[in-house]
Amino acid sequence: MKIVVIGGSGLIGSRLVAKLGTLGHEAIAASPKSGVDTLTGAGLAEALKGASVVVDVTNAPSWEDAAVMNFFETSTRNLLAQEKAADVKHHVALSVVGTDRMLASGYFRAKMAQEKLIEGGSIPYSIVRATQFFEFVKGIADFSTDGDKVRLPVALIQPMAADDVASGVAEVAVGAPVNGIVEVGGPEQFPLYELVRQSLVASKDPREVIADPHARYYGLELSERTLVPDDGARLGETRFADWIKKSALSAHA
Ligand SMILES: NC(=O)c1ccc[n+]([C@@H]2O[C@H](COP(=O)([O-])OP(=O)(O)OC[C@H]3O[C@@H](n4cnc5c(N)ncnc54)[C@H](OP(=O)(O)O)[C@@H]3O)[C@@H](O)[C@H]2O)c1
Repeated sequence: MKIVVIGGSGLIGSRLVAKLGTLGHEAIAASPKSGVDTLTGAGLAEALKGASVVVDVTNAPSWEDAAVMNFFETSTRNLLAQEKAADVKHHVALSVVGTDRMLASGYFRAKMAQEKLIEGGSIPYSIVRATQFFEFVKGIADFSTDGDKVRLPVALIQPMAADDVASGVAEVAVGAPVNGIVEVGGPEQFPLYELVRQSLVASKDPREVIADPHARYYGLELSERTLVPDDGARLGETRFADWIKKSALSAHA
């Protein structure tokens, strides 16, 4: 199958293109770097010619409320219109577990708008909601840092390796459209502060992590299970401690 990966140069997209290739598919990476822009529509019609499946793993360059909403709405509308013209049989998009529980955030309102456009469109679809990537944990620490302290909630998180996200998305992309949501997550749950603490200890980062039930996560108040998937989610195999060890080894290689 010809499978076009929109956002194919990104963290998940690059891994996904490689995985689809090893499964024997013709996987094409499309993004502004290769002349395909979902916001303006440039290069889209040409890229989608002959495609059976389109996977959208883009992310918005700005997470400011209006900008991120414009990105996901305009991109998704353009994509779905061009997919219809190209007779694409399956639209797959990557979203986030708990999106519907985090609508106080402009970013998640935009992801929800993306999901709604897909659900209301005419292309058979699958939405893959993933938990937070291991690669994103350092960003959580940085965002929540004040001086030398990192204040984080005790809510649970079930993060996963970007490689496992890409495997989950690949499996869905080569299957039949589910016309619904598939959740993917990591193999273990952590209190959020504990995950970040382990990450900082491993990188010998001296910041102190403080568990604070009232601390916010990107401005959001979390309840215990806001970030975790339901029973029945497909779980990746990679454990955080093993991923940290492997990342440290490759950094020193
Ligand atoms: N971070 C997390 O923990 C997490 C958890 C669950 C789900 N997600 C979701 O995962 C998705 C992918 O995230 P990621 O970290 O892999 O993203 P990323 O590494 O930031 O990559 C973003 C991709 O989007 C492309 N892009 C940007 N503007 C574009 C445009 N106008 N037209 C076409 N492509 C465009 C970029 O292309 P260029 O390289 O050419 O600029 C790049 O390939 C996001 O939708 C996010 O919501 C994230």
